[in-house]
Amino acid sequence: MKHGMIALVVLLLVGLAIQAHARPESRYDETTKTCRVIGDGPLEWESRAWGQGGKVFKGLCQGCHSRDNDKGAPFLWVESKTSKAWNRVFSQKYPQCAKDGSWQSMTMDEQLMVNDYLYRWAKNSADINDNC
Ligand code: HEC
Repeated sequence: MKHGMIALVVLLLVGLAIQAHARPESRYDETTKTCRVIGDGPLEWESRAWGQGGKVFKGLCQGCHSRDNDKGAPFLWVESKTSKAWNRVFSQKYPQCAKDGSWQSMTMDEQLMVNDYLYRWAKNSADINDNC
């Protein structure tokens, strides 16, 4: 019985350790042609809520892309796209909002961090998908 408990605790810890690492650690950025290290920084919930990329995403992007908004913007959140697809949004800037100046209040640094944040927590981001 005692051994069973110990085994359970060990399993739990191993599980947590794997989960903590099952996120991309790097992202190749087409715009700046650099490899960005994105594995460091606050852990999951903190980074979602307070990470700078997350903050800009909430403040700027979700300012329009909220649920049931009246701006004609589809609802967007981290898991709306895969890591690769988020990279395309920022490297190609194909959305109309990127072209019509709605992104203008964002500095280049902030843009890179929003991209990092979305890449890190995207739909498929529990797979190992480091790309540089
Ligand atoms: C001023 C409002 C506004 C802001 C701010 C804004 N968007 Fe948009 N966005 C829109 C609207 C409206 C559309 C739909 C345009 C259309 O109908 O083609 C759109 C379309 C998109 C699309 C294409 C739709 C899809 O599901 O693929 C993406 C991706 C996108 N936005 C991402 C972003 C990101 C990332 C940010 C923050 C950096 C952002 N948007 C900020 C209004 C906004």
